[in-house]
Amino acid sequence: MMAACILATGCVAQAEVLPKPQTTGGMPLMEAMAARKTSRDIEPTKTITKQELSNMLWAAWGITHDDKRTVATAMNRQELIVYVMTDKMVARYDPAQNTLTTIKEGDFRQLAGRQEFAQTAPINIVLAVDTEKQPRPEFQAYTTGAASQNIYLFCAQAGLKTVVRAMLDNEPLHQLLGMNEHERILYLQTVGR
Ligand SMILES: Cc1cc2nc3c(=O)[nH]c(=O)nc-3n(C[C@H](O)[C@H](O)[C@H](O)COP(=O)(O)O)c2cc1C
Repeated sequence: MMAACILATGCVAQAEVLPKPQTTGGMPLMEAMAARKTSRDIEPTKTITKQELSNMLWAAWGITHDDKRTVATAMNRQELIVYVMTDKMVARYDPAQNTLTTIKEGDFRQLAGRQEFAQTAPINIVLAVDTEKQPRPEFQAYTTGAASQNIYLFCAQAGLKTVVRAMLDNEPLHQLLGMNEHERILYLQTVGR
């Protein structure tokens, strides 16, 4: 479902409302931890559903209670920024609205990393931070690392494959995503089947 254009003029950005995340059930946590692993043999043609994407984004950075997140952040700075790259677009996740706002339409996965599987996988999640909200690199790494682990655990229990990646060319991706100078990309996480 596409929500109304969120820009007053020059209507480019479209916010797609995701299915409501399913935040109950799933594999028991201890079993998910035991099943957590990196997989790189991701099939280009096997897509993931919007429901799976919504659940995964919630696991990474969703709202739990009292505007708190699935990830702890130092001094509750909530500096994480989550982007999604598919074969059709790059978009920014808004946990409060449960939407994906398209930044650019098109297939830009060649910028998702030099490893071939990243350029053909259905989903790459960009884990970035607002360094004005949280200037300390060790705290930024904590936040993005915790979000990455949540994605790993979600994928383990959902039967999806994933790999977190730090081997990136940051600059082209930074430009593609229209990021400010105070936004910093730490990892990409590739997901598929
Ligand atoms: C910070 C970090 C960066 C990583 N970068 C890459 C990467 O660029 N490419 C890749 O294929 N795997 C990358 N990995 C995945 C590791 O190679 C993988 O986690 C490790 O081999 C252990 O396997 P496991 O996750 O199944 O336990 C990275 C993992 C971490 C934690």
